[in-house]
Amino acid sequence: MIVIQGGQPLSGSVRAAGAKNAALPAIFASLLTPEPVELLNVPCLRDVETAVELVRALGKEVVWEGGRLSIREPGPLSPRAPEELVRRMRASFLVLGPLLARLGQAQVPLPGGCAIGTRPVDLHLKGLSALGAELEVREGWVYARAPKLQGRTVYLDYPSVGATEQLLLAGALAAGETAVLNPAREPEVVDLSRLLSALGARVRWADDRVVVQGAGALSGARHAIIPDRIEAGTFLLAGAITKGEVRVEGVIPEHLAALLVKLEEAGVEVSCGEDWVSVAVRRDPQGVGVETRPYPGFPTDLQPPMVSFLSLAKGESLVTETVFEDRFGHVGELLRMGASIRRQGASLLIRGVEGLTGTRTAASDIRAGAALVLAGLAARGTTEVEGTDHIYRGYEGLVAKLRRLGAQIWEEKGNTCP
Ligand code: UD1
Repeated sequence: MIVIQGGQPLSGSVRAAGAKNAALPAIFASLLTPEPVELLNVPCLRDVETAVELVRALGKEVVWEGGRLSIREPGPLSPRAPEELVRRMRASFLVLGPLLARLGQAQVPLPGGCAIGTRPVDLHLKGLSALGAELEVREGWVYARAPKLQGRTVYLDYPSVGATEQLLLAGALAAGETAVLNPAREPEVVDLSRLLSALGARVRWADDRVVVQGAGALSGARHAIIPDRIEAGTFLLAGAITKGEVRVEGVIPEHLAALLVKLEEAGVEVSCGEDWVSVAVRRDPQGVGVETRPYPGFPTDLQPPMVSFLSLAKGESLVTETVFEDRFGHVGELLRMGASIRRQGASLLIRGVEGLTGTRTAASDIRAGAALVLAGLAARGTTEVEGTDHIYRGYEGLVAKLRRLGAQIWEEKGNTCP
């Protein structure tokens, strides 16, 4: 449980961790090569632990020290991914492409993950079968075979982050060129493409597509993970919701553009340097309209904490979720804290209230958890957030970092980093 005594304006500066959503595919990319892969700026969080456990179960040797992961291959890889690890985290499904491309076969369970919508993997499967994979879905498992994947042009009906990554990973060892039309352009996808290039697969981005030129075999590489724009955005929103002044260091400000524009529109003062962003609230924030979209649109992962912030902004806000149809696990809990939010389909009509009141709440997924922590920081009295396992899946040292900004916040147990 996390306990927060709300009402303190946060002030000071924190450093962003490495991006969870870039670290996970990077760890799975190591399956493409027998050579050593070294990853730097890896965040210490549960999902990274799960990814490390998974590649270990598949035959890799991993040394994790500080923010550095050294991945080696002491013996043959297994083509079968353990069910428990894939169910724990949806991103684990990304081992399918690398195992198939490397070993000619793979058996991977259909994934689990956060309860934020139906989240099918049809685009992953359609794409891989276009590259020549024979796929069979049976009793909750995907059985895949392909003596040699063949590069093709694949069109994605939706710019799915996971499907784009799956195809880049598989394409890195396919014969010829794999072109993904309508790809996801999230910075984490681009970061994966940089790692694949460093491993020897040539990746180029064009206006309408990303193209990977497969290699017969890939080398090793050393790669630094980009900063976590979602974690950074969460701290900026923590500064804004408490009417404080918070600076986040070690970020790529461009990756936060959609959030920063919306914060300015709400009346928050925003400043940026080359690798930092800060916010300051000097007058009451106003409600704004927000619609989540694939990058460079407003990130769905910041929708829940943004809703907490807008719950206390003057006037009305309209928040529309277009990426995950059911990402509203935070709303019921915010209502219990005194927010005024009406849901209509995929939209939330928020009427800003004067204050929120602390109470006992439960996190239903990673970002809903962050939203409740933020609400608690601004609420009168004590907020308890249960379901912290969700929060620890995605945030490195959240409580310690918030304390450094002056928050009165405690936790029963946090993540212990190797
Ligand atoms: C990734 C991120 C997640 C983020 C999301 C959107 C990781 C580990 N997770 O998730 O934090 O919220 O991008 O930015 O990087 N879809 C299909 N068929 C598919 C694949 C996806 O219909 O085969 C749908 C999903 O149900 C969802 C939408 O596409 O409605 C977006 O999903 P996607 O971009 O694939 O997200 P993830 O890769 O799961």
